[in-house]
Amino acid sequence: MFVVTTGLKGQSRRSGLGRRAGRGGGRWARTRECAALCPFRCVWGGEGVCGRRSTSVMLIPGALDVNWWRHVQVEWRSGELARGNFGAVYVGEHRLSGEPLVVKAAKAAADGLAQSLLEVERHVNWKLQDRSEELQPRRWAMFLGSARVSSLGAPPELLDAYAPTVLVWRKEGSGETLEDYLSSRPCSALSAAIGASDAAAHGASLCRSSFRIVVGELLHALTQLQAAGIMHRDVKPRNVLVVPHAEDGAPLKLIDFGSACEWGPFFKRGYRADHATCDPTYAAPEMFLSPFHPDRFDVFSVGLIGLRVLLPALRSEMRLRECVTQLRFKYQWDVTRWACDVAARADQQPNARSASALGVDPLPLQLSSLAQDAALLRVLSAMLRERPRYRASAAQALQLYDFSNLPSTETA
Ligand SMILES: Nc1ncnc2c1ncn2[C@@H]1O[C@H](COP(=O)(O)OP(=O)(O)O)[C@@H](O)[C@H]1O
Ligand SMILES: [Mg+2]
Repeated sequence: MFVVTTGLKGQSRRSGLGRRAGRGGGRWARTRECAALCPFRCVWGGEGVCGRRSTSVMLIPGALDVNWWRHVQVEWRSGELARGNFGAVYVGEHRLSGEPLVVKAAKAAADGLAQSLLEVERHVNWKLQDRSEELQPRRWAMFLGSARVSSLGAPPELLDAYAPTVLVWRKEGSGETLEDYLSSRPCSALSAAIGASDAAAHGASLCRSSFRIVVGELLHALTQLQAAGIMHRDVKPRNVLVVPHAEDGAPLKLIDFGSACEWGPFFKRGYRADHATCDPTYAAPEMFLSPFHPDRFDVFSVGLIGLRVLLPALRSEMRLRECVTQLRFKYQWDVTRWACDVAARADQQPNARSASALGVDPLPLQLSSLAQDAALLRVLSAMLRERPRYRASAAQALQLYDFSNLPSTETA
């Protein structure tokens, strides 16, 4: 069986079957990783251009497997991986390949907010999957599609509790997030998982290598998303999966695109000017996307994640919140002034260094190390500027520090 689709040169090609089938593997090409699970089993046939019209031929050996969801088995009773305000995530398995999956169901609440977030998440994931070939390596979880909750064998009580459609992804790693690593594991565990070289943190030491990898990978992820017109709007450690030994080398994968929006020139899908569902701790001071610099919102969140990874004293989210309050109200997000100020006050206290060794707050000592590192201050200040107009874009921030030889760029 083969499908021919036509479209204007340089534009996405549209035809009912062709468009759906192409989603499994990007622009008609079946990618390496799609091969195991792609329900559509399509292979690239060829493309011809005649004037301004291009024609694609896609070969589909055998029948198109529109019933791919039949092979999805969900652990509805024992496999709840996470539960949030808007729904729950379950583990499952692809019966044929044995590949672990996760399934996200939205609450069927009367206001429909959870369902509309899930609908945006579905749209954004399709969009990214559509462009998966050009956006490599993939720094977000691999999306497989949507299915009816009733078709996946959900027990009757869950059929009533959840919206009719659920979303299915490949399970990336063990499902542990950056938050899990930051809040309940030693620095060395994160370092080992992402291929950094930080040893156990103590006293004034900073996790420079983990900072370089986490911030570098997330900034690259943002440039990829923004190339597809996607603003995530809820980048935080809970929405970043840590995947040690990922086959494509990218150790961090973004998830949870429910708050995302597609920022097109006319239509902005998922965007409501007066509506923010992001986490206030990591949200940029403007709270809503700036119409002129929408891309800078996520850069701010990555900057804060970087600060938390860099300073072991900020591993507890509570501590980070205290610093965010100080930075916001006392220092107007002037990171350099904050670091120098706290470090200078610590220096005035007798025995500050030995006190820290005895287990007293190590933050001033770590800020003292930060205050002496001009390169770190430069990149953090640029990412954490209060006004989006003066904040660095993801591409600019990548130029402000040595983000070379990241695990994913080495593999690519
Ligand atoms: N593709 C995935 N692979 C592995 N675990 C996942 C995946 N997607 C989600 N999870 C797990 O489910 C949790 C909640 O997912 P998320 O999409 O953030 O839902 P919520 O909207 O409830 O915040 C994550 O913290 C993670 O542990
Ligand atoms: Mg989440």
